[in-house]
Amino acid sequence: MTFDLFDSLPQDAPRAEPIVPGAVVLRGFAREHEQTLLDNVRAVASQAPWRHLVTPGGQRMSVAMTNCGQFGWVSDVTGYRYEAADPLSGQPWPAMPDAFLALARDAAAAAGFADFRPDACLLNRYAPGTRLSLHQDRDELDLRAPIVSVSLGLPAVFLFGGLARAERPLRVRLAHGDVVVWGGPARLAFHGIAPLADGDHALVGRERINLTLRKTR
Ligand code: SIN
Ligand code: FE2
Repeated sequence: MTFDLFDSLPQDAPRAEPIVPGAVVLRGFAREHEQTLLDNVRAVASQAPWRHLVTPGGQRMSVAMTNCGQFGWVSDVTGYRYEAADPLSGQPWPAMPDAFLALARDAAAAAGFADFRPDACLLNRYAPGTRLSLHQDRDELDLRAPIVSVSLGLPAVFLFGGLARAERPLRVRLAHGDVVVWGGPARLAFHGIAPLADGDHALVGRERINLTLRKTR
């Protein structure tokens, strides 16, 4: 019989790494649910397909997006907003999968935000080379609730800045299964994703999928 020493080391347990006050990375927090999460991502995208939104400035975003939940985040030349229906189909967004809700609630609680009930989930899909420029998440009416962000697939460099765009962001490596929660004093921090390095993830392939769960009202 062989004994695998590594099975018993605490490195497998989820670890909480503070970024700044109010923001934390929960390492590997989503890993045990990876297959269910990915199955749900596929189901959402089969109803509400991935699309490249246009910014109010008229630029096509390189990140592909879709949504599930009561509200979905959309952008076009008239601005950013949450909509109850998918503008592509006119139909309500796909329902929020139970696995997304449970993970968001558990991650928020682990980060000190009790009773988080998101009503929207933005799904982001990054191909190699794709980036998301620094921005604030501020289209939500209730800024007391945190943002919960789940990383799946290829690793990325998360840029986490301050409350002013000019502040130089910290660089935090996010791997498959990591969950970031930010709220409280960090709720309006500027953040983004550096250009995605190429790679091939065993489960997800040549892409990174991110879920951000929000309470919009
Ligand atoms: C976002 O800011 O909406 C996405 C961040 C990420 O992809 O990790
Ligand atoms: Fe964001």
